[in-house]
Amino acid sequence: MENKALIKKDLGGSLPVENVQALASNNLKDIPPRYLRPEAELEQVSIEESLQIPVVDMDKLVGDPLFHDDEMAKLHLACKEWGFFQLINHGVSEELIKKMKTDTEEFFGLPLEVKKAYATQPNHIEGYGQAFVVSEEQKLDWGDMLFLLTQPVRQRTLMFWPTLPTSFSETLNRYSQELQQVTIYLLKFISSNLGVNLEMERMFDDGVQGARMNYYPPCPQANKVIGLTPHSDAVGLTLLLQVNEVQGLQIRIKGKWIPIKPVVGAFIVNVGDIIEIVSNGIYKSIEHRAVVNPEKERLSIAAFHSPNIGSMIGPLPDLIKENVSNYKTISYEEYIKLIVTSKLDGKSLLDQMRLNQELH
Ligand code: OGA
Ligand code: NI
Repeated sequence: MENKALIKKDLGGSLPVENVQALASNNLKDIPPRYLRPEAELEQVSIEESLQIPVVDMDKLVGDPLFHDDEMAKLHLACKEWGFFQLINHGVSEELIKKMKTDTEEFFGLPLEVKKAYATQPNHIEGYGQAFVVSEEQKLDWGDMLFLLTQPVRQRTLMFWPTLPTSFSETLNRYSQELQQVTIYLLKFISSNLGVNLEMERMFDDGVQGARMNYYPPCPQANKVIGLTPHSDAVGLTLLLQVNEVQGLQIRIKGKWIPIKPVVGAFIVNVGDIIEIVSNGIYKSIEHRAVVNPEKERLSIAAFHSPNIGSMIGPLPDLIKENVSNYKTISYEEYIKLIVTSKLDGKSLLDQMRLNQELH
């Protein structure tokens, strides 16, 4: 398939680094210097309880006209002011979510040698290992990940899909389909809030979805390392599932890190760089990071949703009519190249797309 070549060819990939789970299980006294992040210790973490992201109720968006308008306004505000919200009553069954969680926990619980069968390879972005390592000097994150392209189905590379636990593939298949549906629904409401009708929906109707299972081992010097470097998601929309009870996601608001408290059963949804670009800056993709726990492992599953292969990535014409275009328009391929050749570094990817520096 021609489309397939588009995304798979020359994507680069990550330099191989040590497995963090194995490293962490060695009763470490001293953390290897490449993981030490003195800057993380200096940054302020907010303890203000009131600073919690909005909770959006999908039932109210879809159903009762009595609640619809208010909930739409809430969604608009969440995308505009926060870039993050928790989605409840999303319709994905509790049973499936539970299964996805246990299968993921079981996968990371397998011996290293077994997991290595799915190790990422040079020139591949998928597989088990780490991502975004582009130089030998670069600081490293305290975590391992399994990244798989999940939609459209023709984008899958089955050699990276775990066959253990035996139900993993089927669970991920179902999970990926259901989350794709939730995303399509959400984008309908987001489009309506932006007043762009079908333009945005069409852009995502055969969209690319990737799933990243994150595993953050405990670290005896947790405040000296980072689980996942501060970044904004390069995609359209991310739906994050907190797998166990250990918190660690933080978002940067006005220079301070705000810890997110996941609502049970909710997805944590965030606006990615592509929605920021497509909305011509009306919605903002927010920087976030993951911190690690001194005693307990933490797991999360991020489902990333991007436009159809072949889309042009740029502000929607309807949103630049009366204003200037605040971002460049580039091809999907060029955009992907930009992602895979950059290390994670806050919102630096968007800096390369921005035309109007005042928006910063
Ligand atoms: C991500 C991400 C946060 C977390 O995978 O992009 O931001 O809590 N994860 O694991
Ligand atoms: Ni992220």
